[in-house]
Amino acid sequence: MRDWATNYLGASGDFDVLPTIGSKELVAWLPTFLEAKRVLYPQIAYPTYLVGGILAGAENIAVDIDPQSWPDADLAWINSPSNPSGRVHSIAELEAVLEYSRRTNTVVASDECYISFPDSQVPTSLLKIANGDNRNLLAVHSLSKRSNLAGYRAAFIVGDPALIAKIREIRKHAGLMVALPVQKAMVAALANEDHVLIQAGKYRARREKLRPVLESLGFQIEFSDAGLYLWASRGESDWESVDWLAERGILVTPGHFYGPAGEQFVRIALTVTDSKIDEVSSRLQPTK
Ligand SMILES: Cc1ncc(COP(=O)(O)O)c(C=O)c1O
Repeated sequence: MRDWATNYLGASGDFDVLPTIGSKELVAWLPTFLEAKRVLYPQIAYPTYLVGGILAGAENIAVDIDPQSWPDADLAWINSPSNPSGRVHSIAELEAVLEYSRRTNTVVASDECYISFPDSQVPTSLLKIANGDNRNLLAVHSLSKRSNLAGYRAAFIVGDPALIAKIREIRKHAGLMVALPVQKAMVAALANEDHVLIQAGKYRARREKLRPVLESLGFQIEFSDAGLYLWASRGESDWESVDWLAERGILVTPGHFYGPAGEQFVRIALTVTDSKIDEVSSRLQPTK
């Protein structure tokens, strides 16, 4: 894990690593581990950031990308590439997050679980931008996406050694240890990049296939620059788009699941097989 963090993420300086039971465990419990009173999370986001804040009894504030507008907090989440939108933080945006963390002494947890699936944008780890000063920083990684190991519940965090020592101390009392065979599987999977490149190529090809078909039907694709999803809107309510696609036997997720800002969007996952993607594409052909 350390080697991968150094070689793949570009982490440097003093850092530690800690396996977690999927990244969902960490996302749900990090605010509690940190006794956070105020948690910031992206306006369009994976719902567990908010649930974790609620579990901790924290005040939870949805924020936009620019940290200039963020209030002081105990924990701020960023997620690049994003679930659901596939938005990728630019280097300047990551630098602004780092500046916020340094200025306000806020812990920043950067959920980078889709980092291995670049497309029109290539994501960068916050730890690379940190340039060896990892104070208050955590990068969250998961083998669920990178190596299709969701059933193993295999994930880990990398970052500030003092922070990770504190989290390790609490987690073990909560019985959240990761089974040794799973840790060994993680090490084996992280030592191989070939399967990840193959998978990343599949997601890119599926996105490339579906994007023009959806656009020809009046959907606008926003972001979707990396990761596993297409984030699409026809300027109508998400339920109308969900219905329209469901009538054609295609299941997508309504955007408001990811926050009110998503209510005119649907999230289309590229995780079905290539042959299913072909079928989706043929079901969506305009009727002549
Ligand atoms: C942004 C994000 N973070 C974390 C997770 C949790 O994944 P896992 O617990 O399988 O590592 C997901 C799962 O979809 C996700 O989309």
